[in-house]
This record gives sequence, structure tokens and C-alpha cells, in this order.
Amino acid sequence: MNLLSVGDLGPDQLAGVIDLAARVKADPGSVADTLKGRSIGLFFMKQSVRTWVSCDVAAMELGLHSVSIRNEEVGLGKREPPEDVGRVLERYLDLLALRVFDHTDLTRLAGQVRIPVVNLLSDREHPCQAIGDLQTIAERRPLRGTVLTYVGDGNNVANSLVLAAAMAGIEVRVASPPGYEPMPEALAMAAEHGPVSVTSDPRQAVAGADVVYTDVWTSMGQEDEALDRQRAFAGFQVDTELFELASADAFFMHCLPAHRGEEVTADMLEHPRSVVFDQAENRKHSFKAILLHLLG
Ligand code: CP
Ligand code: NVA
Repeated sequence: MNLLSVGDLGPDQLAGVIDLAARVKADPGSVADTLKGRSIGLFFMKQSVRTWVSCDVAAMELGLHSVSIRNEEVGLGKREPPEDVGRVLERYLDLLALRVFDHTDLTRLAGQVRIPVVNLLSDREHPCQAIGDLQTIAERRPLRGTVLTYVGDGNNVANSLVLAAAMAGIEVRVASPPGYEPMPEALAMAAEHGPVSVTSDPRQAVAGADVVYTDVWTSMGQEDEALDRQRAFAGFQVDTELFELASADAFFMHCLPAHRGEEVTADMLEHPRSVVFDQAENRKHSFKAILLHLLG
């Protein structure tokens, strides 16, 4: 199976992967070298710190050999079509994980190969981030019944988060400026699992929430729109004043990298209830669980 969208996992599989991530984190030795002798590819068309390093180390700790592949060398879609790149790489690898600009590169490639294909972030989704984020929430409170508010751009991170959270029984609230909401398919699929609301009023959405989450206003590949976006998102910055409207034991989340002074203030990121670096850590544990689920 592939993991192109978090929706590729059913709710039970998602719960299983989150549970496995917790067990792998608590007892890494129990899974050490369990995938020894196999190889995976980590293919990047965009920059990365967390995804690249956490996935590489996760693979190593499971005994896998991982090959980091930079698109500067491959020229996906330019030197060679995605389908052919996939058909070649599956002759060497047991799993291929890619970070791409255009989600259709993933679907085109995945349609031609038999090995599992994993989305490490596209313009549509960031499923591995959402799985690590649910692990981070589950470490602090039961997922079911939690109220999660996402403030800001309805981007790749938001699409996966909204869907994964709803699948896990979380009540989802989104506050985005008109025209920047999460993609309709993600909202519709999420609404099949539980309550999802969308507003353009961040204060209303944050009031009483258990988790407040934001991500950058300008994602990789949208740099030309940065000025327009800064104007559109004025009033959607997460600062400590907005966060105070959330429940008393709420925590703040951000997938990172953060743009201080845009979607989040520096003091919000450094707030005692900010868990952003725990999220980053859990990318490693949760990727191990994803690999075990797909290859184990
Ligand atoms: N959160 C995340 O995916 O970070 P990177 O872009 O650094 O991989
Ligand atoms: N939405 C951001 C997430 C980075 C991890 C981007 O796509 O650039």
C-alpha cells in the first residue's frame, strides 16, 4: 500500500500506527534491525531538515539502508518522466518516499510501481507530519474528544492534519481567510468522520480549544505570493493573546520551520505550552511506525 494521503490509512490503521509509534518510542530496542537487509529511497525536490534527517535515522535504527536522492541529480519530469524514475528505482528499493512540488508527480509514479510510495510532502498533503502530530497530542491527552484549532493557511499540513484528526475522533476547527481554507476534498472527507467547522474568525475558533496549531502563510514554492499572503493573513497570527482564549491546559503546535513575526510570534513559539520540538522529535518515531506498517 501507499501513503500518499493520510486517508490511505483507515481510522483503525491510523490508530494502529499512532499506537505503534508510541511503543517504538518507549522501547526502540524492540524494533531495532527488524527490517535489516532492505533499502528505501528518500527523494527530495524541496528543502528539508526534519523529514530528511528523521526519516534517514529512523530507517537506520530499523536496520534499513536508506539512499537520499536529490532532484538536482535526477531531474524528475525534466530529465526523465516520474513513471520511468519509479520503474527504475523499484528495481533497487523496497520503498520510495518523495517530497515533491506537484502531487500528480506522486500519483503518476505510484501508479506504475509495486513498492510502497510515501508522500514526504506535496502541494496537497503532508501525511507523515500529521501522524507524528497525532502521536504528540496522544502523549498529552486522549485524541477522542480533543478540540483542535488550526489557524492560518489551509495548506498541505492543514489538509493532512484536518483529515487525520477527524479520523482519530478529534473535533476540528479551522480559521482561515476566505479563499485560503483547506482543500474541499480534505474537509469533506474529514466531515465524514466527525465535526469539522471552518470560520474566518480566529478568536471564535480558538476559544476553549485544547490544541492550537499553525503553519507558515507562504509554503515552499509559493514565494512569489508572499506579499499578497502577508496581507491576506493579517489578523491570523498566533500570539499569546490569542492563545489565552484556548483552554487552560491547551498546547501550541507548529510543524516547523516557523516564520517568526508572520504566522506566529517568537514568544508563542517559546511559550511553556509550545510543543513544537517534541513534534519534530516524533517525526522519527512515527516514521519508524510507518515503515513497519508498510514493510513489516
Ligand atoms: N516539518 C517538516 O516537514 O520539516 P522539514 O521541511 O524541515 O522536513
Ligand atoms: N506548509 C509548509 C510545510 C513545511 C514543512 C511548506 O509546504 O512549505
